[in-house]
Amino acid sequence: MTDKIIIGSDHAGFAAKEQVKAYLQSKGIAVEDAGCHSAESVHYPIYGKAVAGAVSRGEYPRGILICGTGIGMSIVANKFPGVRAALCHNAFTAQACREHNDANILVMGARVLEWPQMKEIVDLWLNTPFAGGRHAERVAMIE
Ligand code: RB5
Repeated sequence: MTDKIIIGSDHAGFAAKEQVKAYLQSKGIAVEDAGCHSAESVHYPIYGKAVAGAVSRGEYPRGILICGTGIGMSIVANKFPGVRAALCHNAFTAQACREHNDANILVMGARVLEWPQMKEIVDLWLNTPFAGGRHAERVAMIE
C-alpha cells in the first residue's frame, strides 16, 4: 500500500473526492488535494492535469481522479507519459487494473457509483499488487 496519494476532481466529483480523501486519511495515507475545492462548476482537464502531471513527474506514486462519468478524467490522465489511468466500475475492474495493468491512477465516476462501491474499488486498487510476468512485458510495451 502506498503512503501518499494525490487526488483531484471536478465539481461533479467534489463530494465523492472529499469522502475518498477522508477515507484514505483514516487509513494513515497522506493525501495531497489538487482540487477542486467546492461544488461550483469547473473544467475537469485542469484537475486531471494537476494529478496526472504529478504522477507522471514521479512526485506521487499514485493518484485518484473523480468526475461525473470518469471518462473525461481518464482521457486527460492517459495523455501523460508513465500514467496508466484506469476507469473502474466494480471490484473486478479495480483488481484487474492493478494485477494486469499496474494502474497508477484510479478514475471513478461519481454519477455512476455509490459510496459502498467506491470504497470497495479504492480498497482493491490500494491493496492489489501488480502480477508482473507476461503483464510486465505488455505494460513495458505501452511506454
Ligand atoms: C461535468 O458535467 C461532466 O461532464 C464531467 O464531470 C465528466 O463526466 C466529464 O467526462
